Amino acid sequence: MGSGMALNLLKGGHELTVYNRTPGKAEALRSRGPHVATEAADACRGDVVITMLADDGAVEAVTFGDKGVIACLGAGAIHISMSTISVGLSERLAAAHAKAGQRFVAAPVFGRPEAAAAGKLFIVAGGAADAVDACMPIFQALGQRTYRIGDKPQAANLVKLSGNFLIASVIEALGEAMALVGKAGVDRGAYLDFLTSTLFTAPIYKTYGGLIAEEHFEPAAFAAPLGFKDIRLTIAAAEGLRVPMPLASLLHDRFVRLLAQGGEALDWSAIGELAAKDAAPIGA
Ligand SMILES: NC(=O)c1ccc[n+]([C@@H]2O[C@H](COP(=O)([O-])OP(=O)(O)OC[C@H]3O[C@@H](n4cnc5c(N)ncnc54)[C@H](OP(=O)(O)O)[C@@H]3O)[C@@H](O)[C@H]2O)c1
Repeated sequence: MGSGMALNLLKGGHELTVYNRTPGKAEALRSRGPHVATEAADACRGDVVITMLADDGAVEAVTFGDKGVIACLGAGAIHISMSTISVGLSERLAAAHAKAGQRFVAAPVFGRPEAAAAGKLFIVAGGAADAVDACMPIFQALGQRTYRIGDKPQAANLVKLSGNFLIASVIEALGEAMALVGKAGVDRGAYLDFLTSTLFTAPIYKTYGGLIAEEHFEPAAFAAPLGFKDIRLTIAAAEGLRVPMPLASLLHDRFVRLLAQGGEALDWSAIGELAAKDAAPIGA
């Protein structure tokens, strides 16, 4: 996600320094014009720093500590956190940046790596209005539309998690429906064509239905462990707010099964294949 986003920032005329833990990925961008930093601290000298990292642990590793983003960012500068992280970490980041005299905007995104590369992400932004205003030129370079969710950064993270919960629910439902008709001999491609040109025309049905129908789960555009992380974070947020989400618990177990059976490197849409496996005769 980060590589495509970096290239769009450059295309948008922004001066950019890139940092990645594994140096090769940042180095691969060098010929396109950004400065390449050898440590995170060196990517924190500007007005804005953007983090786009795997999970809470990754964001904590880069943000806190002596050479972390908070220690190195200037007063009044903005940290835009675009990773899908927990509501709790978002709250901690907002407090830590405020204490350091910096600003914090949570701006998680919808859209897979091809959307990131095309500058077509949907961005959900939460934070103080003046800080989000200042980020708009950056969001315009990265996405097709930005939705402002209010002054609480963590609300943007909650909206993102709720969205991924919905997508995973669609993947599971599509997988079950396709297992049903597929076992009866209906052509899965023709079935999907029927669905997505009648009552289920949303892009999410087309994208994930196609992946399930073709059993196309590698290479992962959004890896299964990250999808699992989002369901766990959804459940944690639901626990905190005392909101029962039985479907989220079911999805949690689907991901545990996928990962237990060696699905670490697969796309998260591979949970959509589990129903067909459950329906196959033993040993098939
Ligand atoms: N892929 C999608 O379709 C998609 C869509 C929307 C949102 N997202 C969200 O966007 C974020 C990035 O996803 P992605 O698909 O780009 O993941 P990815 O390809 O796995 O990249 C993860 C990044 O996090 C870094 N990282 C992981 N652990 C770290 C640590 N402990 N310290 C420092 N850096 C660490 C990795 O560095 P190394 O290169 O050194 O491993 C890499 O740069 C995630 O929060 C994901 O949920 C993804």
